[in-house]
Amino acid sequence: VITKITARQVLDSRGIPTIEVDLYTNKGMFRASSPSGNCTGIYEAVELRDGDKGRYLGKGVSRAVKNVNERISEALIGMDPTLQSQIDQVMLDLDKTENKVELGANAILAVSIAACKAGAAEKEVPLYKHIAELSGKTSTVLPVPSFTVISGGAHAGNNLAVQEIMILPVGANTFEEAMQMGSETYHQLKAIITEKYGTSGCNVGEDGGFAPNISSFKEGLDLVKEAIDQTGYNGKIKIAMDVAATNFCLGTKYDLDFKSPNKSGQNFRTGEEMIEMYVQLCADYPIVSIEQPFDKEDWENTKLLSAHGICQVVGDDLLMLNPKCIERAINESTCNALLLKMNQIGTVTEAIKAVKLAKDAHWGVVTSHRCGETEDSFIADLAVGLATGQIKAGAPCRGERLVKYNQLLRIEEELGERAVYAGLNWRLP
Ligand code: PGA
Ligand code: ZN
Repeated sequence: VITKITARQVLDSRGIPTIEVDLYTNKGMFRASSPSGNCTGIYEAVELRDGDKGRYLGKGVSRAVKNVNERISEALIGMDPTLQSQIDQVMLDLDKTENKVELGANAILAVSIAACKAGAAEKEVPLYKHIAELSGKTSTVLPVPSFTVISGGAHAGNNLAVQEIMILPVGANTFEEAMQMGSETYHQLKAIITEKYGTSGCNVGEDGGFAPNISSFKEGLDLVKEAIDQTGYNGKIKIAMDVAATNFCLGTKYDLDFKSPNKSGQNFRTGEEMIEMYVQLCADYPIVSIEQPFDKEDWENTKLLSAHGICQVVGDDLLMLNPKCIERAINESTCNALLLKMNQIGTVTEAIKAVKLAKDAHWGVVTSHRCGETEDSFIADLAVGLATGQIKAGAPCRGERLVKYNQLLRIEEELGERAVYAGLNWRLP
């Protein structure tokens, strides 16, 4: 049973406070932390921050810490950690709000994940297996990693609008091979960028992708394509983009030069022009997935792009992992894949339900990091246990990104001959 729960404030990969929880049972101590990101939506679970400008510029989480140490801890002590849905329900009942603003989704999520780890230990099974069982399945799948190799948008200081250009080694036979292909291509890209833009072009963005001072999608894609060609992985590595277009939507226009202070209007695009651009890019490059191609409220153009059937269209802040938004998008054929960011919803149980909704509609599911990450590797086990087929956790470098990928290497090793790599079945593993 759960004997003790304590929380503390630690810092995330951006140097911003976040919450870490230690949950104790008779089997030991289980630690988890909440990630944090830039893009947020109105239906998203709320991250509780202190707002005290004198401490960490208002971003402290001492109120969330207090909620865990007092109210949540009191409610959960004595519970069986294997009963994930009951534990999560107790926290929801205690919070009573729709968006978890009372206790804080950051507080609730860290406890929910710590309890999940404790539940696996209680059953003496690996975490990914426990998660699979919680979702009512027994099969597990190693996801195709979506490595961020070029950073832009809100994640980097260059003029590039698109937030992440990623590579997917779908042609690898194992996760380990995918890791090698990703790493080699990343380093090849570094050499290409150094030659073209000098060493400063290899400075990296928040998720570890290179951030050369380029300004068009095409320039970024050309660099990545050249790196893939040079490593000889042509055909085996596909490309994905997270456009995060909510960041540069101005009314009905999209500003592809949104980070530049001088606006000529030359780089404004209508929704229709954006679709034309995506169709052309998908024809010219091996692009298989586009995340958040339009504003979070632009359901119409997202749907029009999806109808072209040229690639996977992933909803991030369009959906916010909110079941109501997911259901609407399924009914209206708005997009065809779900971005799984745990802290958008706040509990393991609700995340499992959202994935089930998406899978039942034959959608793809991308397990995702946030730009503000921690040393917690939970999402690696989550991706395997829920067989999402895809995971994006940033570049194949930087500790807070690699804890996820390295954990996947360990899981594959542990599964041995039973390990299944999603590979070409990444969309519907
Ligand atoms: P975020 O970015 O964590 O800054 O929201 C990740 C993403 O958009 O997928
Ligand atoms: Zn995104």
